[in-house]
Amino acid sequence: MNHDKLRVGVVGLMVGDGHVSDYIASASVEELVICDMNQQRLKEIGDKHGVKRRYADFVEMLDKEKLDAVSIALPNKLHMPMTIQALEAGCHVLCEKPMARTAAEAEKMAAAAKRAGKKLMINFNQRFHPLHQAMKGLVDAGKLGEIYFARTLWRRRRGVPRWYTLTQDNCGGGPLVDLGVHRLDLAMWLCGYPEPEWVLGNAYSKVEAQEFPDFELEDMAAAMIRMKNGAMFDLEASWASHCEGEALSTRIFGSKGGLVLEGSKNLFLTEIDGKLANIELVEGEFGNAPLAPTLTIRQAFLDAILNDTEVPCTPAQGLTINKILDAIYRSAKTGAPVKMEG
Ligand SMILES: NC(=O)c1ccc[n+]([C@@H]2O[C@H](COP(=O)([O-])OP(=O)(O)OC[C@H]3O[C@@H](n4cnc5c(N)ncnc54)[C@H](O)[C@@H]3O)[C@@H](O)[C@H]2O)c1
Repeated sequence: MNHDKLRVGVVGLMVGDGHVSDYIASASVEELVICDMNQQRLKEIGDKHGVKRRYADFVEMLDKEKLDAVSIALPNKLHMPMTIQALEAGCHVLCEKPMARTAAEAEKMAAAAKRAGKKLMINFNQRFHPLHQAMKGLVDAGKLGEIYFARTLWRRRRGVPRWYTLTQDNCGGGPLVDLGVHRLDLAMWLCGYPEPEWVLGNAYSKVEAQEFPDFELEDMAAAMIRMKNGAMFDLEASWASHCEGEALSTRIFGSKGGLVLEGSKNLFLTEIDGKLANIELVEGEFGNAPLAPTLTIRQAFLDAILNDTEVPCTPAQGLTINKILDAIYRSAKTGAPVKMEG
């Protein structure tokens, strides 16, 4: 790249509102353009952030604006077609999670990025929490030793996103695709993205279907994933279940240390001079040293474009997550473990 500022677009202005805020705050953005087919939302977000260049039509935006980069913050069904459209129009793309509804779609997106010679990044934003970055630093410094088990979940008592069109066609799945992907990616990233070998899972619709008999997605899913390096991952995701309430939790066990990421409880568990030690990680500090300020995921995307470096959340990682999701749903259907290919 021979300039240090970019022309950036955001399409989809619900969760895309956060993308707009980050791009406005970034010194790397020369011009910001927004798009939503809902005129009222377009006006609301345009007025809120003072963005003048507004489109209701994505193709018109791509044609007229000659953008360097685009954030795709659209329903899951549109991730593949609109990412490919943007790549073919010469844009780098930051696509919301999940990468796609299926691994087959994700593969097409990765191939399109390669063909176009453009960057494609998946918006796995949970990695960018300062405490999660600090934990990744511990792992990368070898403080956990050999990691052999991870348990990760995002569960809700009642929290079905009823504002979505809740169909298989639109979403590609239920809480597994919506919430599970975040926690699975976070655990996989912390553990160095081990290669999955076997998946055994199931998906249920036991709570939501009582009130909405036409509900066609799962309201809870659970899986065990065995990695080629022998590590086991346990994954759980629900929109509705008889639990105490919303919980996000990840636990990682290694030969030298463990991690707990659970709301305000963030611990590094280890042994120092033969004694068990619980080291609390607090936002804003880490031991005696202040935590380094963490980049927003959007700035990390822009930096990768400007410096021509690999994006931090790669299409290959997004594809691995989609392959695991496919295997969980296949296992749920067949009742048998699924051996991953490749
Ligand atoms: N990273 C996160 O933490 C996070 C959080 C929530 C949602 N998401 C993901 O973001 C994506 C969008 O989620 P959402 O909650 O904003 O969805 P939403 O359905 O609430 O909003 C989508 C927006 O896109 C617009 N839109 C739809 N089709 C369009 C088209 N063809 N052209 C232009 N605009 C169009 C809609 O009018 C709407 O404003 C999903 O893939 C979801 O999984 C990520």
